[in-house]
Amino acid sequence: MAATVIDGKALAAKCKARVAKEVESLSRRPGLAVIIVGDNQASRTYINSKRKDCDECGIYSEEYALPADAGQAALMEIIESLNGRPDIDGILCQLPLPEGYDEEAVLLAIDPDKDVDGFHPINVGRLSTGQPCFAPCTPAGVMEMLKEYGVDPKGKECVVVGRSNIVGKPMGMLLLAAHGTVTICHSRTKDLGEVCRRADILVAAVGKRNIITADMVKEGAVVIDVAMNRNEAGKLCGDVDYPAVAEKASLITPVPGGVGPMTRAMLMVNTLEAARRHGC
Ligand code: GUN
Repeated sequence: MAATVIDGKALAAKCKARVAKEVESLSRRPGLAVIIVGDNQASRTYINSKRKDCDECGIYSEEYALPADAGQAALMEIIESLNGRPDIDGILCQLPLPEGYDEEAVLLAIDPDKDVDGFHPINVGRLSTGQPCFAPCTPAGVMEMLKEYGVDPKGKECVVVGRSNIVGKPMGMLLLAAHGTVTICHSRTKDLGEVCRRADILVAAVGKRNIITADMVKEGAVVIDVAMNRNEAGKLCGDVDYPAVAEKASLITPVPGGVGPMTRAMLMVNTLEAARRHGC
């Protein structure tokens, strides 16, 4: 049976429209500050989209573009000043940082209540102990997709392939909080195919094209592809062998047009939530 394709673009538009409507009822516009260091092209593209999303949602945005050699101290100074600004609710420092920067120190410097990325260890801890927190945008977007398409992780076998701090680990935590039975796989997992075949919900977040083939997917599974790779022709693709897996899955996300737009939408949701916490 051919899978239903999850339309991340349409769902993201719906989420952003909801944020825009709620922003109108606040006492002031939420504010998001985005910091980019160096000239990574992919990061520049992401940042431009974030600004566009803010404009669409009525969120005030401010951008700090630092040259690669600006240095840790200059970056920390900007973060410190943004932490103290009452009109800025969210602070996001685009990763990866150029070589020579201490990424951990940067993430630690951001006020946890302005950490709309959900990368600060305080928010990581809150997520894993079930306290209110900012969940990282990509896994939060996946949960939103599951909800929209009527997929309840409760009691289901959930397999996450990839253990990054940004996606794999928080994805596991969110599925666990939703009462899924969670397995997180990685490069040292013995017989990846065997573990993946158990999955009712399979989330691929590795960054390796076609690592998930049809023989690794159970008939009727929900398959979520978080990756953004490029094929030899430079075309965007995920981790999943899409045409073959789409014949077996019940629901599947495309790349592009799946998880990517939802990640962006969830940043808007988190910024709105931050503004509310700041008394808006
Ligand atoms: N680089 C790639 N994805 C992200 C993200 O979600 N947040 C930040 N800060 N950097 C990223």
